[in-house]
Amino acid sequence: MSYQECINCHAKYGIEEVVYFCKKCKDILEVKIDMDKAVSVVKTGVYKNVPLSVWRYREFMSIHEATNVVTLSEGGTGLHRSRRLGEVLGLTDLWIKNEGENPTGSFKDRGMTVGVTKAVEVGAKHVICASTGNTSASLAAYAARADIRCTVLIPSGKIAYGKLSQAMIHGAKVLQVQGNFDEALDFVLKLAEKHRSIYLLNSINPFRIEGQKSLGYEICEQLDYNAPDRLIVPVGNAGNISAIWKGFTEFYKFGLISKLPKMTGIQAVGSAPIAKAIKGHSDKVVPVAEPETVATAIRIGAPVSWKKAINAINESYGTAETVTDEEILDAQKLLAQVEGIFVEPASAASIAGLKKLIRNGIINKDEKIVCVTTGHGLKDPDTAIKMCEKPIEVDAEMSAIENALGIRENM
Ligand code: F0G
Repeated sequence: MSYQECINCHAKYGIEEVVYFCKKCKDILEVKIDMDKAVSVVKTGVYKNVPLSVWRYREFMSIHEATNVVTLSEGGTGLHRSRRLGEVLGLTDLWIKNEGENPTGSFKDRGMTVGVTKAVEVGAKHVICASTGNTSASLAAYAARADIRCTVLIPSGKIAYGKLSQAMIHGAKVLQVQGNFDEALDFVLKLAEKHRSIYLLNSINPFRIEGQKSLGYEICEQLDYNAPDRLIVPVGNAGNISAIWKGFTEFYKFGLISKLPKMTGIQAVGSAPIAKAIKGHSDKVVPVAEPETVATAIRIGAPVSWKKAINAINESYGTAETVTDEEILDAQKLLAQVEGIFVEPASAASIAGLKKLIRNGIINKDEKIVCVTTGHGLKDPDTAIKMCEKPIEVDAEMSAIENALGIRENM
């Protein structure tokens, strides 16, 4: 039997119990899957009959077998060999796992398909989250698909328009809180405690993490049952790095891979509590009161899954690094122009971090490296447009177009 367990005092809770924090010590929970059952499923290889996707791993998601899944076909995203970017950076074995290819354009869909399926399983009629944008876009879509009520709390002013448009068009009730993400999260945690009919779907919900761990599984499969030497991912609320690590460690315990990658988390300088803790060799995180960065998705000062993230980084002999807004935007443009992959600024933090770690001599040039790009560039077109040359206005005449191109007109 799988169960939920407190990461601190190891108190156990049933898989159907709606509980977000340990009732004894208030720490966060994780799902422990039934390892014996999982290993026997792996031996049969039945999961291979389903194409690469989150639900290929249904047996490892702790969802009841009678439950209908709420899905929009998530996961199965490309792992792109990045030869040109590798050449630019002097690396021989670089890969991009592009999560912008998910249904709503970010990795959040992996967690939401499982989280909203669990919500339906426990009979929830109203789901809620706080979000810097992508979580709200994803939850709104899956709630629409499941025909349940959805409320999202977002920080005022600082959310990319693509994401806001998604939450709105899918019919969520959008509350723009006069404060930052951390304050909005605080409200939804309290709301879900006070009003038990509202089901909380921030990454504090361990079933979100279960869905997101498929990112780690998929990378191993796409590398022919090998883990990379290093996995680089942007870190905000710190659910994703924890989830990917869970995926890798489970695949290792299943006997499907024989080594584990160094987990490497990247944060923006102005929102970097976890990177600061790792660099200071501390196992405690000091929250940042007023987080700031152009990468609004990761503008988070008090990451809820900080303990899981620090464990993942330390257990894997990984590291964390900070990058400036300028480095993030340069990396976004570089990736778009040498690999044809358009990602939002937060996602480009993984590429900016990679560049910095090479510069600092932390990364060996022949490491097999996977950078996760977490969200599509169209989520935040305004930032991209600001960085690029403006379109050239021309008269609707061939000569004007040729002139603009610097091509001589035939006389
Ligand atoms: N990249 C993108 C594009 C994100 O939207 C987020 C988080 C992250 C990275 C960081 O992942 O929080 O698991 O460490 N976005 C959340 C949201 C907070 O509300 O959409 P994390």
